[in-house]
Amino acid sequence: MRSYTKCIFLGIETSCDETSCAVVQDGRFILSNIIASQILLHRKTGGVVPEVAAREHVTKILPVLKTALKKARVKLTDIDAIAVTAGPGLLSSLLIGVNAAMTLALMLKKPLVPVNHIEGHMYANWISADTPKFPIAVLTASGGHNELILWKDHGQYTFLGATLDDAAGEAFDKVARLLGLPYPGGPEIQKTASAGNPNKYPLPRAWVTGFDFSFSGLKTAVLRLVKNHRRTPQFVADVAASFQESVCEVLATKLINAAKQYRVREVHLAGGVSANLRLREWTQKLLPPNTILRFCKNITLCTDNAVMIATAGFYKYKKSADIYKKCHGELVEPWKPIIADPNLEIVNW
Ligand code: KG4
Ligand code: ZN
Repeated sequence: MRSYTKCIFLGIETSCDETSCAVVQDGRFILSNIIASQILLHRKTGGVVPEVAAREHVTKILPVLKTALKKARVKLTDIDAIAVTAGPGLLSSLLIGVNAAMTLALMLKKPLVPVNHIEGHMYANWISADTPKFPIAVLTASGGHNELILWKDHGQYTFLGATLDDAAGEAFDKVARLLGLPYPGGPEIQKTASAGNPNKYPLPRAWVTGFDFSFSGLKTAVLRLVKNHRRTPQFVADVAASFQESVCEVLATKLINAAKQYRVREVHLAGGVSANLRLREWTQKLLPPNTILRFCKNITLCTDNAVMIATAGFYKYKKSADIYKKCHGELVEPWKPIIADPNLEIVNW
């Protein structure tokens, strides 16, 4: 008989421009994580074209699934449950993963767990040797989302703030474009900024009230700078560094203010922008004593991947019922369709 602590989840993620399948044991041990990235394809257009992304997911989903199972040394029949990103994201991209997951669950008669992509990013920090402790202040910063959340327990959230306009990742991508840097902008700005002076251009810090964020004014300030200067390599490096400094100072300061106000035990960085080294440094610098800071040291787990979806699915499922029974077929829920929702919101569970 397999023990409680041996539950194998297959995670599927296709919300934007990465086709990913992962096999994760007990929400913690990564048996495989296969990601087919479309970055080079979308570089040609400077951003993601939804129809192009969806077509690519269609051709990649089965090979990625096969490779993920092979790498994990498991068969489809060894999978105990399936977790899939149900939203938010591009509808045509989400549908590929959701349909694949529904078909597999129906065929294998296994439980199917819909996962919110942003919660997925938050659960990436649970793939660690020691289990995080609530309450947690978490900043989710990616291409489409920018939220500050007080995380009180599994599935229990208080939303403290969000962006009023652009998400931080979106700002990185747009500013990179203005500077003539390729897509996606975040890693390119970070790389370019390392040769620049962060104090060269005193760009505005958007200290909007409370825990909300705003990056559109900063983007306009960069646009003005770019229009009035010749785009030499040093100018580009200095603007990249000054822009990165402004974004990271605001993100880290608001996150730490929330951590202090709510007396949390841990502070987490999640989503693609959590890969940013300057953001990590700023957060570490401001971190109150006796507070743990977590982010994924492995950059692959900061950006889109199916490991985080499998992990979130594991905790969601574990809470919803007696996982042992569910994973081992004694109590399999009736199959329910999943609705792919491009605007899916995080709700308590
Ligand atoms: O989470 P993610 O892979 O996809 C979404 O859910 O949107 O995040 C992608 C975003 C992009 O905007 C990308 O430019 C940004 O994360 N990003 C970074 C870095 N790496 C990725 N932003 C700043 N610094 C980085 N090192
Ligand atoms: Zn994401």
